[in-house]
Order: sequence, then structure tokens, then C-alpha cells
Amino acid sequence: MAIKAQAPIGIFDSGIGGLTVAREVKKWLPDEQIIYFGDTAHLPYGDKSTAAIQAYSIKIADVLIQQNCKLILIACNSASAAAYDLVKAYVASKAHVFNVIDPVVNYLRENHPSQKVGLIGTKQTVGSGVYLQKINALNAGIQLKSLATPLLAPMIEEGFHLENISNEIVASYLSQPALSDIQALVLGCTHYPLIKKQIMDFYKGAVDLIDASETVAQSVAAFLGYHQLLAKKATAKEDRFLVSDYTVSFEETTKLFFGKQIRLQKYPLWE
Ligand code: DGL
Repeated sequence: MAIKAQAPIGIFDSGIGGLTVAREVKKWLPDEQIIYFGDTAHLPYGDKSTAAIQAYSIKIADVLIQQNCKLILIACNSASAAAYDLVKAYVASKAHVFNVIDPVVNYLRENHPSQKVGLIGTKQTVGSGVYLQKINALNAGIQLKSLATPLLAPMIEEGFHLENISNEIVASYLSQPALSDIQALVLGCTHYPLIKKQIMDFYKGAVDLIDASETVAQSVAAFLGYHQLLAKKATAKEDRFLVSDYTVSFEETTKLFFGKQIRLQKYPLWE
């Protein structure tokens, strides 16, 4: 089956944090229809096993293929680390598959060769060692220093990201010896763009903060353009935001991550 330019872009995450990526995709590709899937019934992925994340990811990929998505973007670092290869093999020629890690690794090769680079993310993302493997495979002399920062995502979700307490948590993580003397820091979790300013202030602007959402949206745009798969404005349909479990609180939190509140539609993964 040929992949069609007017088909939607599918984006998925463990919950609503991936809306930071969806927001950037809309910014770069305003004429595209997106179908977002937030696996709110199973979040957080950050402390789940690889096997569990793989099972959820395959099920979600199925939903997005049923919606005829031309491209599936795994907008979650934990799922990108645990399930990208599997989803790609599963989807095969039905859609293109993107993750949030490779565009960042490419950015590091171009901009930070032979430097010391930090990574913060969930336990799953850091523990998987995927960033380390991909960066080592570049042979670009990049030294990666990783630190799991599991308190940050729930803190942001609960709306504490602009309080003094969050400055202290951020400072306490970033002052760990593991992250000393870095020239760049990968914000390896979909939630972290919301605390970019605090992190910037901590480093007084001296460290390049790599926000995957921007880098990934730009590479999806370039890819679709190159393959003549960009939708025409006239064919754009309304975006859809599906969640495996619905609560009013999830819907309200969309404001935080997407910039405006959106309507979530319940779509259980297993009945
Ligand atoms: N979206 C996840 C990630 O980027 C963070 C939240 C979670 O643990 O599910 O790793």
C-alpha cells in the first residue's frame, strides 16, 4: 500500500507530555493533520519494564496504522529507547517511523564533537543505554554523562515547575558530579522543555540545552519535504487527541504541554 501525502501524522507518548513534541510539529507543519495518542492508562513509562513498554507501543502503533498514518513519531524518550526498533519492524512499509533520540544524536555529531555532553531523563531512558550506544557508534569523541532524574516529570505534571521547590530539585540534580563540566545537556524527556528556563538559569546560559521537540519536528518536516509527502492545506482535517484513559485532570494538563487546552477522546487500548 502506497503511503499518501494527505494522510495524518501519528504521534504517541505515555501520556500528555508528548504534546510538547506535537506542538512543535504543528508549528513547523501547520497544514498537517495529527493524530495524537497518549497512553494515560499506563503512564508513566519511565519506570516500566522494556517488555511492558514494547507491548503498549505495538498496540498504539496498530491504532495509528488503522488511522492510515503516513508517519509514526514516538514522542516519548522512554518508548523510543525501549521500542523503536520493534515498532519500526512491526510497521514495516505501512508508515515511516521516527523516534526522539536519533535527531538529537545527529545534532550532537554536528555540533558537539569531542565534547562532554550530559543527558537527563527517566530511569528507563538512561538505564537502557540507547543514547550511549548511538553516540559511541558515531565515533565522534563525544563523552556522554547520564543521570536519571525521575522526580522531574511528576513535578512538572503537578504544576510545580515554576516554584522555588522545583528550582531546588533542578539544582540538586544538575550539581551531581555525573554532570560536571558538560558543554551540552540533552533534555531527554518530553516534559523537560517546560523547565528549560530554570535549567538555562542554573547554567547561566553556558551549556547548550538540546530540546528534542524542536530538533525532531524539524527533521520530520525535512523528511516529509524530501519524500514529497507534505500535505496540501486543502486536504488538512481536524487533529485528534486520543487517550487510553480519560480524566478531567489530563484534559486540563494539556494546556501546560500544548499551550492551549484541547479535547481528549477516550480510546481504550484493550477493552
Ligand atoms: N514521556 C516520557 C519520556 O519522555 C516521560 C513520562 C513517563 O515516564 O512516561 O520519557
